[in-house]
Amino acid sequence: MSFTFKDFPADRDDLRADVLNGLAASQKSIPPKYFYDEAGCRLFEAICAQPEYALTRTERALMASRLPDIAAAIGPVDCIVEPGAGDCAKVRLLLDALHPAHLVVMDIAGDPLATAAEALSRDYAGLAVTALGMDFVHDLEAAAPHLPAGRRLIYYPGSSIGNFPPDAATALLTRFRQLAGAEGQLLIGFDLKKDPQRLHRAYNDAAGVTAAFNLNLLERLNRELGADFDPSRFSHYAFYNPVAGRIEMHLVSLAGQDVSVAGRRFHFALGETLHTEHSYKFRRDEFSALANSAGWQLAGEWEHDGFAVQLYGSR
Ligand code: AVJ
Repeated sequence: MSFTFKDFPADRDDLRADVLNGLAASQKSIPPKYFYDEAGCRLFEAICAQPEYALTRTERALMASRLPDIAAAIGPVDCIVEPGAGDCAKVRLLLDALHPAHLVVMDIAGDPLATAAEALSRDYAGLAVTALGMDFVHDLEAAAPHLPAGRRLIYYPGSSIGNFPPDAATALLTRFRQLAGAEGQLLIGFDLKKDPQRLHRAYNDAAGVTAAFNLNLLERLNRELGADFDPSRFSHYAFYNPVAGRIEMHLVSLAGQDVSVAGRRFHFALGETLHTEHSYKFRRDEFSALANSAGWQLAGEWEHDGFAVQLYGSR
């Protein structure tokens, strides 16, 4: 029915500042949200199609098979809010089951979001769709004026929460609760702790798509910040750290080398790493303890083949 798109000015300065800060630290790092330029979004979709990376398929299977039960637990909803909605594919199942009047989707990649959200608004007659091109980790509160009154459900699928270390995850879930309001609910999907060999394979697919996704970050910096990274002199390296309960993804320098980024020079020693992502894995009880510390109360949970979806209310 209706479609609205609001783009919050591209955070190019944030990219520059975040990258310069990250490269100046003793453990060099770049926030994983910068993976998702146009090429990065395509590569992520290709990762989801790899046989070793079951996460996305497993969540879809869980949602499809348990939908009636999940919808009944949620009850009536006026508005679904999805931060980091990407191609807006996942929310369709929920729209089919819950029939809300309003959908608000946000993503740091504004243009692909707008395209996907507009297509969705054509497919769902009577649904008002608002797409916000924003980095919700920075700007979540700026979404508040765009949310209609009524019962809100925040939908945060795909184990995106795993990108945040525990303290940052608690902080984000607290902000979700404030955005959702007193009657608000949260439906969240996350990857479970499992055989580390299986986790390892998921981030080291045989076709090398995850490696290409990781290395694309360097190409993005070359394109957007005038950097001169030579991607052939860095190696994708991902492993499960069972002590910290997370996949760690790095780009390991294959040589001693200097790189220039936005007019500044940085030295990489042979073997030094640029840390690009944490992907935390949880047990269900671990995750509900984390959500409790953000003020959410568990209201339902579903598990399938190493993946979990939990429903929370504010009380
Ligand atoms: C989108 C954050 C859930 O951590 O599994 C996939 C991103 N990185 N392969 C994940 C990712 C490498 C993904 N999340």
